[in-house]
Amino acid sequence: MNKDHKVLYSGMQATGNLTLGNYLGALKNWVNLADEYECFYGVMDLHSLTVRQNPAEFRKRARQLMMLYIAAGIDPERNCLYLQSSVPCHAELGWILDCFTYMGELQRMTQFKDKSAKHADNVNAGLFTYPVLMAADILLYQTDVVPVGVDQLQHLEITRDIAQRFNSIYGDVFTMPEPYIGKIGAKIMSLQDPAKKMSKSDDNPNASIFLMDDPDTIRRKCKRAITDSEATIAYRDEQPGLKNLFDIYCACTGKTPDDVVKEFAGCGYGQVKEAVGEAVVGVLKPLQDRVKELESDKGYIDNVIKTNAERAYYCANKTLRKVKKKIGLTEVR
Ligand code: TRP
Repeated sequence: MNKDHKVLYSGMQATGNLTLGNYLGALKNWVNLADEYECFYGVMDLHSLTVRQNPAEFRKRARQLMMLYIAAGIDPERNCLYLQSSVPCHAELGWILDCFTYMGELQRMTQFKDKSAKHADNVNAGLFTYPVLMAADILLYQTDVVPVGVDQLQHLEITRDIAQRFNSIYGDVFTMPEPYIGKIGAKIMSLQDPAKKMSKSDDNPNASIFLMDDPDTIRRKCKRAITDSEATIAYRDEQPGLKNLFDIYCACTGKTPDDVVKEFAGCGYGQVKEAVGEAVVGVLKPLQDRVKELESDKGYIDNVIKTNAERAYYCANKTLRKVKKKIGLTEVR
């Protein structure tokens, strides 16, 4: 890792199956960031506890997300890929920062409002303080930039508010994180409702392509994608279903919308869907093969989990010790 580089931090929750949207919109674009940044990517398993998990399944998913990071090409030597729960500093700083966050601030978070409506039977305190744990994730590593989607921008804002509040009392303890504004990934919409983002938790299984879907499933889902009745090949907002298919195609092939409109001029939507299906299979199949290889190498993943936990702990603990000292907690060890 290069200490002269700025620090970049991001992560994904270890719940649900990742979708093509997660891959094209985030993961794929994280691969080359290590050239420019010192990168940390967490498997956010503590955040996943806000929803009840089946223990065996949950443990498997966390490992699988780690493998997907690696399979996507994020090198665990050049980047720090680790399990959030393997670094106890997150929970510890989370608590401390809870005491620097106001109820009113958390009540305003749109994600809390959405999630508590969706999981009305389990509106737990963790769901409420979720953004504070996320602030701890980011601030522990003295993060400069955070690549997040628009749905997470409010969380980054509250992180900045908390950091600012803390720094104004205790001096410059935390680096102020900024949203990452580099080349951002494609925003992939639901195949069944192009007004909605493709989501891991969509009730309609045809709405999302999951990263581990087999080739036939991928082809079938593309074939069933909602388009329109205009029967013209164009890349425009008025044909959002087709536009989404073209976005997927472009992200998978590296082509531009202009290229693609030319390529399919005069074709029917059926041909477009078929080509999109093949392009997606072409991208996901190698990823899946790599995951399978990693699955068969238990020792390798165990070792990545262990060594990266140590690397992450080293950085996080530095910040945590500083915080404890500033606020007047006694240093024992
Ligand atoms: N809340 C993020 C999501 O659901 C996941 C996350 C947790 C995260 N901590 C983070 C993302 C820190 C970036 C930085 O997508």
